[in-house]
Amino acid sequence: MIQEKHIEATLKEMFANLKFTQEPSGLYDPLRYMIEIGGKRIRPRLCLTTYALYKDSFSEEILSPAAAIEVFHSFTLIHDDIMDKADVRRGVPTVYKKWDENTAILSGDVMSIESYRMIAKAPAAALPAVLALFSDTAAQVCEGQQYDMDFEGLPQVPMEDYLKMVGLKTAVLIACSAKMGALIAGASAREADLLYKFGYDLGLAFQIADDLLDTYGDPAVFGKAIGGDILNNKKSWLLTRALEKAGTERFAEALAMPVSTDAEKEAKITAVKNLYAELNIEQEAKEEIIRFHNQAMGYVKELNLGLIKSEMLHRYADMLLGRRK
Ligand code: IPE
Ligand code: IPE
Ligand code: MG
Ligand code: MG
Ligand code: MG
Repeated sequence: MIQEKHIEATLKEMFANLKFTQEPSGLYDPLRYMIEIGGKRIRPRLCLTTYALYKDSFSEEILSPAAAIEVFHSFTLIHDDIMDKADVRRGVPTVYKKWDENTAILSGDVMSIESYRMIAKAPAAALPAVLALFSDTAAQVCEGQQYDMDFEGLPQVPMEDYLKMVGLKTAVLIACSAKMGALIAGASAREADLLYKFGYDLGLAFQIADDLLDTYGDPAVFGKAIGGDILNNKKSWLLTRALEKAGTERFAEALAMPVSTDAEKEAKITAVKNLYAELNIEQEAKEEIIRFHNQAMGYVKELNLGLIKSEMLHRYADMLLGRRK
């Protein structure tokens, strides 16, 4: 079985080898920028981890598809930052801020195409299933992003709708990462589906943690501006739950506050955080993250992989649970 040390080293090498030096540089520089800065790379790590459950060594058949998922993910972030008006990501200016919106749109487009080029290197036997999974997932991410934007304009959304939205925008790609490693390694359909469910619930926990950190994270560690969700009236887990508990009336004034100047932004963030504090939202979010994490671990149990392999998935999940960025 492949060890985590080796997964770590493989990830490093994989992205060091991904260059994007084509012309015109105005199109490809932002791709290189996103990949070189690098994020946590949790998705390719998961893909390599589930592959490692079944195989003893890595080869191009998995490295390229695993990297493809990260390239696709980074593309969604470039467009997401335009949609969310976010100036900082991974501790540096976002693509649309460093260049401009048109650059971010087109570089994002070519990045999504690059991801397909890389996915297509999956082994022939698995390729139809891999392509179908990847395409379904990519469309779902767009659907989730559309709900996310639609929800900003609604006074309130049911928690059920929030979970559906984050299921689409975030959980399916993590689930896809887990399933793809298994599919390419030749795991059974039952195992691949259980790994998908494991990834999905981890993905829900991951997005709720992201929502939590957006308000309560340490800006130096998080790498993104704190309070962006509040400024956008984003229906994060925090706001969805707070509205569910307190009703829209209690939030009407805070959510209507203007956000043009820095002082106004700060005032709105403080007003919403005060309401969250009264409603115990931070604590409840932490409990919800643990609930989904535990639900995910239930699938590991069902997989019956034996101690050593189960523990590898446990360590992966614990790493996500401990996220501060
Ligand atoms: C950010 O994903 C978008 C979400 C789904 C919350 P990550 O938190 O994985 O971002 P990077 O890739 O590490 O920067
Ligand atoms: C992003 O959700 C999900 C996708 C990019 C598909 P967020 O908007 O919460 O991600 P961050 O916080 O900007 O990374
Ligand atoms: Mg967003
Ligand atoms: Mg965003
Ligand atoms: Mg976020």
